[in-house]
Amino acid sequence: MITTRQNFELSSVTTFAIPAKCGCYIEYDCPEDIPFILSTLRPNVDFLHIGEGSNLLFTSDFPGIVAHSRIKGIEIVEEDYPFVKVKVGAGEKMDDFIRWACDRELWGVENLSGIPGEVGASAVQNVGAYGSEASDAIVEVNAYDREKDDFVTLRCEDCHYGYRDSIFKRPELRGCMIIHSVVYKLTSMLSPNIDYPALKSCFSTLPSSPWQVREAVINVRNSKLPDPSVTPSAGSFFKNPVITQEQLQHIIDTTGNDSFPHFKVEGGWKIPAAWLIDQCGWKGRQAGNVAVWHLQPLVIVNPERKATATEVLDLEKSIVNSVKQKYGVTLIPEVEHI
Ligand code: EPU
Repeated sequence: MITTRQNFELSSVTTFAIPAKCGCYIEYDCPEDIPFILSTLRPNVDFLHIGEGSNLLFTSDFPGIVAHSRIKGIEIVEEDYPFVKVKVGAGEKMDDFIRWACDRELWGVENLSGIPGEVGASAVQNVGAYGSEASDAIVEVNAYDREKDDFVTLRCEDCHYGYRDSIFKRPELRGCMIIHSVVYKLTSMLSPNIDYPALKSCFSTLPSSPWQVREAVINVRNSKLPDPSVTPSAGSFFKNPVITQEQLQHIIDTTGNDSFPHFKVEGGWKIPAAWLIDQCGWKGRQAGNVAVWHLQPLVIVNPERKATATEVLDLEKSIVNSVKQKYGVTLIPEVEHI
């Protein structure tokens, strides 16, 4: 079934709860609805497909059409002991799928427990947490290709996954591929990944069930991140920057030592944006109706559900400017601005 609503208020379908209206909001239940919906679009109308809206900031009203998939289903499509391939509908909540996997003692996605968002979006954004990324377990993405006017299947390697990045985020493919299901590969073989320091410290012996890892991840998340159903936010607002050796040296000179967190990665040094923002004194600070989360300064929150996009953008600008001024590093938002 396809449902449409005109002049729709988007704050109810985004976790940030920032007010913005769209011209029309469409929801649908099966892959075959996609070409039908597309065939009804007026030429040149703006079209945006969203998931659970957990990583979005509408900076103003969106005059076009916003679509959302309600495609459900979690189905084992191949078993090759100890591996199983599981096809998951784009409209399933990522955490419902993770709970399903843990209930069956299947490893592979437990480190992503508690991540807001839906399965379709997990394959666009390559969501990640606690040493694991969606692309570690994705084998195939099934989509409708608007250019080809046909259904296509992309293998994981075709998706060019990177840190919170994929081919689906490229400007030339933006809005072109509409994902309707994702195939994840899981395993019944004991394979805990608890190298991430915050996770490792939760265990004195190796966990024997993905449920143990899931519970530890959820506890760590709850101790740092706001629950979006209670305190609206869009999760990490900024990406962790990768900086050059010269920029690193500048930070060492500014700080007077090199004991701050920094990790060698391809192309330079990764620095936690949270640390940079924290050092600039932003943690817990309020600016009108928006605030920097007191437990994790990477998150901007809308505690009273009264914030406007302008307030968020002003706070973003102030944070970016102060980090730039103090450390010479330009923070890039992770939250998608529409
Ligand atoms: N830190 C501070 N002050 C703080 C908090 C953190 O200095 O108040 C520093 C600490 O040095 C800490 C480091 O920041 O060791 C990293 O913090 P954390 O482990 O919480 O992770 P993060 O890099 O801030 C990333 C993801 C999160 C994900 C966590 C856990 C990004 C942009 N964010 O945060 O993802 O949950 O790792 O893996 O990569 C999201 O994408 O919405 C999200 C929440």
